[in-house]
Amino acid sequence: MSGFVDLHSHYIPGVDDGVRSHADGVALCQGLAALGYAQVVATPHIRTAMFDNRRGDLEARFARFADQSAGETGMPELGLGAEHFCDDVFIGLFERGEALPYPGGKALLIELPSDSIPLALEQQVFKMNVRGVRPVLAHPERYSPLFRRTHALDRLLNMGVLPLLDIMSLTGKYGRWPRRASERMLEEGVYYAACSDCHKPEDVPSVGAGIERLRELVGQEEAQALLGEHPRAILRGEAEP
Ligand SMILES: [Fe+2]
Repeated sequence: MSGFVDLHSHYIPGVDDGVRSHADGVALCQGLAALGYAQVVATPHIRTAMFDNRRGDLEARFARFADQSAGETGMPELGLGAEHFCDDVFIGLFERGEALPYPGGKALLIELPSDSIPLALEQQVFKMNVRGVRPVLAHPERYSPLFRRTHALDRLLNMGVLPLLDIMSLTGKYGRWPRRASERMLEEGVYYAACSDCHKPEDVPSVGAGIERLRELVGQEEAQALLGEHPRAILRGEAEP
């Protein structure tokens, strides 16, 4: 299997809880390429009071990283988005054009608090839909209201939100409940795509183990769709869950 497209990773050094050095960013990207990733999109956190990143600075840092790694061998194609924490600050940024969608501008990655589905989320998703930007939801299996049942997501799924499996959840990296929830959501067919959420080069073997586990659970064809065709469709604005 190859030709994967990763829509969630943290390889820009020094901007969030991802890699700390340029060398580690390069090693992370090379590691994912060796697993079969043709394209890896960096998604640094934009989260108030924790990671107060802004679009212009992230674009400059991404350009610097891409520039400085241009001579390295075994690199995937690089891209930039962001992992937006869904609060009032986020929707303000979005409405002013200061959020950071995926390359092509057709979709944007959001994350939620770990213990609640915000009431304002439907309104935020509505606003994104109006502007033709598809919300992609990071790791639903890691939110405690969804550990046992998926129904709290139903309305959002009906509004076109695209759930993104964090492949390392399948290995138990985040604990027993996210692992169980990820297996259940795979069975339910909830996920539209799968990503690495890789934060450091040392995560790469776990991503590889997660890909193997995904193949065991859903088979080769479905795994390839989740890792390759579907993320590519998200970037083109052609995702059809
Ligand atoms: Fe992340």
